Amino acid sequence: MKYSSVLVEELKPVRSFRFFPRCIVLTFIAGIVFYCAYSVIQVPVNEITSGRLQSGSVPCDCPYDISELESIDRQRLFYNRVPKCGSTTLITLIRKLAVKNNYIHFNSKIYDKKNVDEEEQRRIVRQVKSTPSPCSFDRHVFFINFTKFGESPPIFINIIREPVERIISSFFYRRMVARQNKTKVKPSAYWLNKKFEHCVLTPDPECTFLEGHNYSVLQLPYFCGQEPECQLLNDIGALQKAKQNIEKYYAVVGTLEDMNMTLQVLEAVLPHFFRGAYHVYHNLGVHRNQNLHKEQVKEEVKEVLRANLTAEYELYYFVQQKLYQQYQTLVEETQKKQYKFAFTSLDQLLDYR
Ligand SMILES: *[C@@H]1O[C@H](CO)[C@@H](O)[C@H](O)[C@H]1NC(C)=O
Ligand SMILES: *[C@@H]1O[C@H](CO)[C@@H](O)[C@H](O)[C@H]1NC(C)=O
Ligand SMILES: *[C@@H]1O[C@H](CO)[C@@H](O)[C@H](O)[C@H]1NC(C)=O
Ligand SMILES: *[C@@H]1O[C@H](CO)[C@@H](O)[C@H](O)[C@H]1NC(C)=O
Ligand SMILES: *[C@@H]1O[C@H](CO)[C@@H](O)[C@H](O)[C@H]1NC(C)=O
Repeated sequence: MKYSSVLVEELKPVRSFRFFPRCIVLTFIAGIVFYCAYSVIQVPVNEITSGRLQSGSVPCDCPYDISELESIDRQRLFYNRVPKCGSTTLITLIRKLAVKNNYIHFNSKIYDKKNVDEEEQRRIVRQVKSTPSPCSFDRHVFFINFTKFGESPPIFINIIREPVERIISSFFYRRMVARQNKTKVKPSAYWLNKKFEHCVLTPDPECTFLEGHNYSVLQLPYFCGQEPECQLLNDIGALQKAKQNIEKYYAVVGTLEDMNMTLQVLEAVLPHFFRGAYHVYHNLGVHRNQNLHKEQVKEEVKEVLRANLTAEYELYYFVQQKLYQQYQTLVEETQKKQYKFAFTSLDQLLDYR
């Protein structure tokens, strides 16, 4: 990143200046202080950082952030996409933004290997780190610990969804895919025509979530990681680890329910990758991958499922709260700018850019 090299160059001379007359040192320090204050005032709206955003946020223009700059590889982005959360649309968006913002995007066609062995993890790490930057990657894969392989992690992002809505969506999506596939042996008519409500209330193993059992279809393992306990339903340790990884490695985790907010936060926090995201997204037209065969599911049936997915929900609310805080910071910063430039709305300010 352009800025980091400027920072490093500026900081180096500080140490060798200690033998110089005090007035020169003081002038130099005053210069740095003035420069920092000036930079802060000059930060455009798309470079706003939230205080709570440690990793992945755009670096503060003051020297405090250097350790952060070292621990996260800000030139590389990894979207370890959770299925059925609008990822097809987001990838279409990223492809367009890659051209616009001048980076390379690598899309993975592997949909069914989310839990990968150590060799595959190492291969992914090597691929991400050896590609010329700036670049971004996507794949349906549980969180990968780059540190374990002696590498600085890329900026992680993801989008999740209301847990039961996601399970319903997957249920009908599986059937739609099976119906459309002409080559594969058709599953039984019973399976194809299964009613979701019946599946939950029976209870059918396809729609049952039991404590102490492992489930790779939930959202939490995407943030917890590759370890077997990450798939254990409602495991406290797995939930803790997922939250810690979000705090540490994810610049933004959005939600499908708050897509507009997600896009604006992505754009503000990661302008090098997401500048223009909001408008490009709304010009993409119809959302792809929408399943018209989805049936309406009664609230009380959803409640039956919700009762068993406590960790999934805790993670969802954790992500939602973090997203709202990032958005709030953005709005507050924008209001300051509005005052300065007499803009009337956030959208207008984003338009102006
Ligand atoms: C990642 O790997 C490092 C080094 O092995 C380890 O110290 C750290 O706890 C791991 N982090 C996670 C989230 O598993
Ligand atoms: C249909 O199923 C076969 C066998 O599982 C698979 O190899 C193929 O990719 C599927 N085709 C489509 C269009 O999904
Ligand atoms: C919820 O958990 C209870 C207790 O483990 C179990 O009896 C029930 O079948 C589960 N229901 C669903 C829909 O997963
Ligand atoms: C779930 O995964 C753990 C850790 O690998 C394993 O010990 C346990 O036997 C698995 N449980 C079930 C029900 O498959
Ligand atoms: C998101 O923004 C678009 C365009 O500004 C608007 O049409 C749409 O209603 C918004 N959606 C939500 C859920 O606010």
